[in-house]
Parts: sequence; structure tokens; C-alpha cells
Amino acid sequence: MSKEIKRIGVLTSGGDAPGMNAAIRAVVRAASFHDLHVYGVFEGYKGLINGEVKRLESGDVANTLQRGGTILKTARCEEFKTKEGRNIAYETIKAYDIDGMIVIGGNGTYTGAKYFSEEFDIPFIGLPGTIDNDIWGTDYTIGYDTAINTAIEAIDKIRDTADSHNRLFFIEVMGRHAGFIALDTGIGSGAAYTFLPELDGGVSHLLDMLKKAAIRKKMFNIVVVAEGNANGSVHDLAKAVEENLKGYDTRVTTIGHMQRGGSPSAADRVLASTLGYEAVECLVKGIKNKALGIVDSRLFMCTFDEAINNRKPLNDAKIELLNVLAI
Ligand code: F6P
Repeated sequence: MSKEIKRIGVLTSGGDAPGMNAAIRAVVRAASFHDLHVYGVFEGYKGLINGEVKRLESGDVANTLQRGGTILKTARCEEFKTKEGRNIAYETIKAYDIDGMIVIGGNGTYTGAKYFSEEFDIPFIGLPGTIDNDIWGTDYTIGYDTAINTAIEAIDKIRDTADSHNRLFFIEVMGRHAGFIALDTGIGSGAAYTFLPELDGGVSHLLDMLKKAAIRKKMFNIVVVAEGNANGSVHDLAKAVEENLKGYDTRVTTIGHMQRGGSPSAADRVLASTLGYEAVECLVKGIKNKALGIVDSRLFMCTFDEAINNRKPLNDAKIELLNVLAI
């Protein structure tokens, strides 16, 4: 029989993502509905090691729903990867009488939750919070929708100047291992070509496409490049075009961390609020050690192992769409 939950700990870990505050707020408000206490842990798992923990009441999360970043701060914590570090973290959890943890983050966050929950009898619930959308067991992660909107808005602006000067722009978007951001940004910004980490179309493919565009006198184009693609950096790619094709005036823009900030979109607010609420419901019902997500508009739960070890594939139909519309 599961221990009755009275005190819940919540933390955000890994890269921040817009909507994390909305998720924290939902956890605090849903817990308050059940007369439970919530403890905010600062800077991810580091806060459990350093004892940076503070009671969060309903008023503490007022006016945070619309804010980007995370009011709990975040970090990537090396010490939590060690057994010694996790032992110290357990002492903090005990000191605050915390009966269950809700952790919001990406793969690294889930890996920490997996090890800790195997070693200690503290139920963990994970919420997918990362702009990368690279977590299995959810259609979308918290922060992804805002990030692609930010990238597309930035490219719309670049498109104006690219068009005016007839320039070829290479635009780097985030995604070291996953091309979700690049794929949707490529479709949504009308990119002529998109480099994804998962697919290796190669530079020659881009050159062929540009040669055809040049015949039509279309010298202004947008090329979206995922940071983790296999063909080199945005600068390498721009150089490859300048060296191989005449007449192209190239420029490079890296959108970078702008994609991680800003007020969360409506979709991210709703997703984060839903999952924050469901995480509390899970703990109250005695559900333990699950990663939550929304699949086909329904709540989906899986083990941390499943969420970590299954690779979420890019949608083939979207890749087809990207290619067809780019021509
Ligand atoms: O995982 C989120 C992410 O924003 C990636 O898209 C990016 O590659 C990475 O974090 C950047 O990390 P950092 O903020 O540590 O430079």
C-alpha cells in the first residue's frame, strides 16, 4: 500500500522551456485543492543536494503562468549522477518530509528520476519540459510550441531583408540530437531547404536545389539548419555554397537561446497546466515513477525507462510535406 501523500516536492531541471512556470503553478494549485503542501526545489537536482528548498503556497505562483524561464531556476547537475550525490538528496527529501517528487525537464531529468526512484522509496512523476520535443511518450513537450513560434517569427523578419537584397540565408535553430524544431520551423517558415540531424540529404542536394532555383532567377532563399545536423555548421554550409556556386550572396543567423525564452504560447500553457494537474492527481492516487505526456489528446503514462530508451521518430508525412513544399 502506498504511503499517503502530504508533501510534494517540485523542481525544474536541464534546459529551461517556456511553460515550466505554468506547470509549477498547476502543481501548486492542484496540491492546494487536495490540501497538500508543495516544496519548490531550486536549480534542479542541485537544490536537493544543497538543501535549497522553499515552501510554495498558492500566492507564490500568482502572475507566473505567462512568464518564460522557471521561477525555480534550473541546472544540469553532475553530482546527482553519482550515488553519493543521490544519498545527500535523499537526506534533504527526508528533512522536509517530502512524500513524492514532480520533476519537469528532459532526458537527463528523467534519467535522474529513474535512478533515484529505483534506489529510494520516493515516488517520482516526470513531466516533459524541453523545447526539443525529443521525449518519447508525448506528442509535444512543454516549451516546444513557443520555441517554434519564436523561430518562425524571427525567420519572417529575416525573410523581408533576404528578399530585399536577394540573399541566401542560413538560419540555425536548436536541436543537437533531434530535428523536431527544424522540421516544423522549415515547414512553417517556407524554407527552401532544411538540414535535420536525423536525415542526411547532404550538401550536394542543397546545391542541386539552388542551381534549379538560380535558373528561375530565385536567388533569395531561406535554409533552416538544425544545430546537430551532420553536414556542418551554418557557417560551413554557407561557405560550401559560396565556393561551389556563383552569384549567391549568403548570410548566417543563429537564433539560439532566444528560442528558450519568452512568454509561453497558448498551447504550451494549456499543456503545462494539464500535466502539472495530472502529476498531482497521480501522486494522490498512489501512482509512482511514471513519465506523463499527452498522446492523441489523452493522458499517457510510461516508465522512465521507456521514455528514455525509446527514440521518438520524426513524422514521415511531415518530412514529405517539407520536401514537396520546398521545391
Ligand atoms: O535541450 C534544450 C537545448 O536548448 C538544446 O536544443 C540545445 O542544444 C541545448 O539545450 C543548449 O544547451 P545550453 O543552454 O546548455 O547551451
